[in-house]
Amino acid sequence: MSAIISQCSLDVLRQAAENLKTGGLVAFPTETVYGIGADAENYEAIKRMYAVKNRPADHPVIVHIADLDAVDYWAKEIPDYAIALMRDFWPGPMTLLLQRTEKAKDFVTGNQEIVGLRMPAHTLALNLLAEFKKIGGHGVAAPSANKYGAVSPTNAEAVSAELKDYLEVRDLILDGGPSLVGVESTIIDCTEENPSILRSGAVTAEMVKESTGLVVMEPDHTKIRVSGSHKQHYAPMAKVVIGSAAKSGEGLIAMSDITTPNGAIRLATPQSVEEYARTLYGALREGDKQGLKTIHIESPTGTGLAVAIRDRINRAASLG
Ligand code: TXA
Ligand code: MG
Repeated sequence: MSAIISQCSLDVLRQAAENLKTGGLVAFPTETVYGIGADAENYEAIKRMYAVKNRPADHPVIVHIADLDAVDYWAKEIPDYAIALMRDFWPGPMTLLLQRTEKAKDFVTGNQEIVGLRMPAHTLALNLLAEFKKIGGHGVAAPSANKYGAVSPTNAEAVSAELKDYLEVRDLILDGGPSLVGVESTIIDCTEENPSILRSGAVTAEMVKESTGLVVMEPDHTKIRVSGSHKQHYAPMAKVVIGSAAKSGEGLIAMSDITTPNGAIRLATPQSVEEYARTLYGALREGDKQGLKTIHIESPTGTGLAVAIRDRINRAASLG
């Protein structure tokens, strides 16, 4: 059991940083989704975080950092194009996979030679990371704050609904309002000559190409394991069906130009792809809350952020 803290003053963030340093868990907001954080150098804390999530122990976890100083602590042999990406998109919804240093232990990298780093763009997250740094911390390992395979939480209430029964009294849930992006960070493999995108997100392939001046390659899935790339992921309890032909009593998520069939329950009516990304997970949760058996989703078309939204919808529908 663990309460939501909604007034996150600097004092609260200091206390949360102390909590991380002494092995506690802290759920915190980011601009993508909420994460459940542990000291990236504390094996026991990370083990407990995995247990809370019911996540397989050999899955790698993203290390969240306060500033660029921390990059060399965790990673080495950093290509120039990765520096360009950091400069252009950090803090922001982007995770870079880089060669690890000996500081990144097997329990964060999932026994791989690669570490995932991200500097999130949320004031609360950045201040928490800065306070953690002041007391000697180097990074906060944080997966999305949901049970393994479930929909990522985009507000503190959703974190609480997912994890409160599994957290200890000393653990904290920080409330920083709704996540403004709404889908998880773009994961970019920076260990080859060219970048490749392992998980799509708000930093799009077009943006990576523009920033690096390089061709974005197709990912080599035999080389790196990304848990969110498993077929069934980001899935609600309800059955997800792609298409807008919802029958009476079934849920519907679609852009605002699509009308709701008679008797169907409209769960989201986004007017832009940005709004679609921001509201998708909340709408899936709402469908589950209402006990709907089936949710129809009409995917957005086009490139950019729509690619990430379609990816998550396909996974929610187990179409991988
Ligand atoms: O937006 C996000 O990335 C959110 C927020 C909290 O930062 N985090 C998130 O974490 O989505 P998670 O654990 O739910 O998904 C991260 C993905 C996983 O699929 C994991 O396999 C991959 O990143 N990943 C992390 N570190 C990795 C590594 N060293 N090598 C390969 N994949 C890695
Ligand atoms: Mg996740």
